[in-house]
Amino acid sequence: MALLERSEWYDYTRMTNWTPKFVSEEEVFPAMHSGMADVPLSVFDSYDEPYKISYREYVDVQRQKDAGAYSVKAALERADMYNRASPGWISAAKLHYGGVPVVEYHASLMESRFVRFAKAPGMRNMGCFGAMDENRHAQIQLAFPHEYIDKDRQFDWATQGYRTQNWGILAARNLSDDMMMTRDVVQTAIMLNFAFETGFTNLQFIGLSADAANAGDYSFAKMIQSVQSDEARHAQLGTPLLKLMMENGHEAEAQRMVDISFWRTWRLFAVLSGIPMDYYVPLEHRENSWKEFMEEWIIEQFERNLRDLGLQRPWYWDYFLEDLSEEHHGQHIGTYSWRPTLWWNPTAGVSKNEREWLEEKYPGWNDTFGKAWDVVIDNMANGRMEQTVPGTLPVICKVSNLPVVGIPFKTAKIEQITYKGENIQFGSIVDKWIFEQDPERYCRTQTIVDRFLAGKVQPADLGGALQYMGLGVVTDPADDSMGYSWVDEYRPAAAE
Ligand SMILES: [Fe+2]
Ligand SMILES: [Fe+2]
Repeated sequence: MALLERSEWYDYTRMTNWTPKFVSEEEVFPAMHSGMADVPLSVFDSYDEPYKISYREYVDVQRQKDAGAYSVKAALERADMYNRASPGWISAAKLHYGGVPVVEYHASLMESRFVRFAKAPGMRNMGCFGAMDENRHAQIQLAFPHEYIDKDRQFDWATQGYRTQNWGILAARNLSDDMMMTRDVVQTAIMLNFAFETGFTNLQFIGLSADAANAGDYSFAKMIQSVQSDEARHAQLGTPLLKLMMENGHEAEAQRMVDISFWRTWRLFAVLSGIPMDYYVPLEHRENSWKEFMEEWIIEQFERNLRDLGLQRPWYWDYFLEDLSEEHHGQHIGTYSWRPTLWWNPTAGVSKNEREWLEEKYPGWNDTFGKAWDVVIDNMANGRMEQTVPGTLPVICKVSNLPVVGIPFKTAKIEQITYKGENIQFGSIVDKWIFEQDPERYCRTQTIVDRFLAGKVQPADLGGALQYMGLGVVTDPADDSMGYSWVDEYRPAAAE
C-alpha cells in the first residue's frame, strides 16, 4: 500500500475545528477556561505551532528517549554513584527531586486543559503530546531518586513533594497554582510555556545536566536531557498565541502576563537552580556561575523573543539585573541558616577557595554576603552552634512564598501594604506589584508563617513547625551535608 508523505495529510489531522450546532460556542469554550472571548473562533485557525509531529513519530521517539535514560541508569547502578559523588552534588540532586516532579505533574494537568479548552486546533493537538510529555517527566523523576531511598531517605521527598506542607514545596506549588492551574488556557500558555519553559527550564535541565555530567552523575545528566528535549517542543505552544494576542487587541494583557510570570519564575529558580549552581556543585565541576548561565540562557534569548513579538522588556528590568547578583546569595544563607527545615542536607560552599571564586564572579560578595558568613563561621569555629540557627520566624513574601532576603549590611528588600486591614509583606517591589494586579487572587495564600500565626502548627514552636513540614517524620531535620568538616580550615584563625 502506498503511504502518503506526512506533509500531504498532516494539516487535515491537526486542523480539526468544526462549527458547533447543538450548543453555543460559549458552552464549548467557556471564557473562564478558553480566554480571549472577544476574538472569533475562526481567528484561532491561523495558530501555527512551529513544531509538528504525528502520533506515530511521537511514541517512537519517546520510547527511544525512555530506553536511553533507563538503560544508562541500569548500567550505572553498579558504579555506585551515590557513594562516590561529592556531598555537594547529592545536595543539588535532592533539592531538585523534592521540588520538580510535583510541578511536572501539575504541568501534565495543565496541558490536558489545553487539549479540552484551547480554541486553536493545533494547540489542542500539541497539548495532547505535551500532557504525555509531562506525565513522563513526573514518572521518570520519581523513578530515578527511588533507587537511592535505601541509602538515603531524603530521596523520598520526590514523592513527599505531592502532599507535604514543607515551606519550600509550598512555594513551588503556589507558583504552579497561580500560573498553571487557575488561569484560562491563553494566560496559562503565556505564563508557563512562553515565560517559564522557553528559557528557565533550560537552566535547570541543560545547566544542571552539564554540572551533573562533570560531577560523574551520568544517569541524572541523561535523564534530564531526555526531559529537556520534550520541553523544547511544547515550550513553543505560547509563542503563536502571543502573536494572536498582539494582532487582536490583547497587547496589554500579553505584556502583563509576561511581566508577572517572568518574575515569579525568576525568583523560584534563584532557589532551585541558583543555589546549587553557585554553592552545591563542587568548585572543580562548575561549568558557569548562575549569573553567567542566566545571561547566556535567559537574558539574551528572552529579550530577542520579546522584541520579535513586539513586546517590551518587563518594566522592572533594571531591578531584575541587580537581583541577578543578589537574590540567590541571600536565599542561600537563609536556607542554610534554616537548614533543619529542608528536605535535603545543604552544602555551605564557602570554603576559602570557594569564596575566592564567588568574589571573582560577583565582585563585592566578600564585603556583603561574605561578612554575614564570617559571623556564621566564627560561631561554628568556636562551638557556638546554637547561634548559627535563627531563633525567630522569617518574614515570608505573600506572592513568592519565599523568605524575604536582602544584602547583608546594605539593603533589605521588604515591601509592605495594608489590604483589608491586614499588613502584608513582599520580598520585592515586583512581588508587591504582582499582588496589586489581582489582590483577591493572592490575599488568601497562607504562607508557612501565616499558618503558624493562625494556630495551625501545634505545638507552636520549632519542633511543631518541623513536624508540620514532615521533618522528624519523613526524614530527620536536615543538617550540613559535610558534617561541618569544611569549617576546619577556619578553626586556627578563630582560636586566635
Ligand atoms: Fe516537564
Ligand atoms: Fe514542560
